[in-house]
Amino acid sequence: MKIGVFTDPHYCKADLLCKTRRPNLSLNKIRTAMDAFVEAKVDFCVCLGDLTDHNHEDDTHETVLGYFQEVMALIRSYDIPFYFTPGNHDYHMLSGEELSREIGLPMPPYTVDTATCRCIFLDGNYRSDMQRFDVGGVKWTDSNLPPEQIDYLYRQLRSATAPCVVLIHENLDPNLEQRHIVKNAEDVRRVIANSGKVILVLQGHYHKGGENIVDGIRYLTLPAMCEGESVPYQIIDLP
Ligand SMILES: [Fe+2]
Repeated sequence: MKIGVFTDPHYCKADLLCKTRRPNLSLNKIRTAMDAFVEAKVDFCVCLGDLTDHNHEDDTHETVLGYFQEVMALIRSYDIPFYFTPGNHDYHMLSGEELSREIGLPMPPYTVDTATCRCIFLDGNYRSDMQRFDVGGVKWTDSNLPPEQIDYLYRQLRSATAPCVVLIHENLDPNLEQRHIVKNAEDVRRVIANSGKVILVLQGHYHKGGENIVDGIRYLTLPAMCEGESVPYQIIDLP
């Protein structure tokens, strides 16, 4: 089977944010990626978070909700199942309940079983006090996976009868820039490695991207779609 993946479009109307991000180009970039996914006949597609951003001075909650609805209308216009795990920027202006309602999916953790593999979606947008960012306030350098999600991951891997893929916005790969890494990532990696069933970990968040083999498992971080004029996305073959 094939999946189409992109991450970090940071869509909003700003021309330029953080010196290198071009958020208002992202709607067309998503269109390009979705066209490629149709062409490749992917089974489903995924955004690994930071679907929206905001122009920090002007944008209200209603404006950002509008951005989110605009992106989702585009994605829905393609007849491809879509899955999502939120990023820190999604929680800046929108609540988990709103994101869930707009996408028509629960917020992670949740699992998608295909005929040949199990995809486990996690949410690392929790502070050290285990409050989710939309409740406790976004602190992007303090990303954690709550114990309940680690337990959920353990149980989903234990019961899996097919190869597994783990999908999350923040980084579990220990080789990337430290502030981007989930603080208790070592505990999560141990569960992943001990299961013997995970073939791939997909992440966003670290905009440069990266790829490393950890405990014999491929940890792939996709480059961010919002950076410059490039249109990064991947079509990944799974068993
Ligand atoms: Fe991002």
